[in-house]
Amino acid sequence: MVEKLVEAVRKPANHRYSVSRGIYKLRVAICDWYKRRFAVELDPDAEAIVTMGSKEGIGHLALAMLGPGDVVLCPSPTYPIHQYSVIIAGGDLRTIPLLPGTDFLASLQDAVRTTWPKPKALIINFPHNPTTEVVELDFFRGIVAFAREHECLVVHDLAYADLCFDGYAAPSFLRRRARRTSGSSSSRSPRATTCRAGGSASWSATGRSWRRWRASRATSTTASSSRCRSPPRTP
Ligand SMILES: Cc1ncc(COP(=O)(O)O)c(C=O)c1O
Repeated sequence: MVEKLVEAVRKPANHRYSVSRGIYKLRVAICDWYKRRFAVELDPDAEAIVTMGSKEGIGHLALAMLGPGDVVLCPSPTYPIHQYSVIIAGGDLRTIPLLPGTDFLASLQDAVRTTWPKPKALIINFPHNPTTEVVELDFFRGIVAFAREHECLVVHDLAYADLCFDGYAAPSFLRRRARRTSGSSSSRSPRATTCRAGGSASWSATGRSWRRWRASRATSTTASSSRCRSPPRTP
């Protein structure tokens, strides 16, 4: 990877601003990775963008999808941008405990039962920083059922897809059918902590794209809504 970076830096053609959604070949590479790694088919033109790391991607995603007062559920503890992206976007953050011995899916259902308005989004991250909690594909089945039941978006930060141990392979949330956004970060791979490139892939299988979903919510909610087993370290 380092050699490729050096090769790319030496090319004058690369000394300018990139296209904002990322060059086509990189978006294709992101989709190829999802296919190879998770057997998930994505369209590089409609379902993948390149961001400057997953923090930037999550921060801007929150600004794009939330308006003041929009409720977002997020585990606690969590990697800071998951919560601060919601706060910066003016959303209404509700934290769900992610503690040993607790049933996260049950806690999610409790949160929805006891609070109002209904959540617009859920932000998750497995393998999880800082707890190292990992999940199997079945867990995402529960998340998708929850999202369908409550008509909410799911954002899955998959930054630690490749930092797993003891034979564990992190599943992708995109294996389960729903409206969903998943981000992975090449800067979290073991050898690239100083490189900044994040890929985000989203896919809709419920017949409505995220943009259309957002537009439909805009008319029905407030006016503002228009629009591993080894601990990862927090830098
Ligand atoms: C869960 C999680 N998401 C995102 C990030 C940030 O990734 P990036 O450097 O690609 O912005 C980190 C960094 O520690 C992280 O732990």
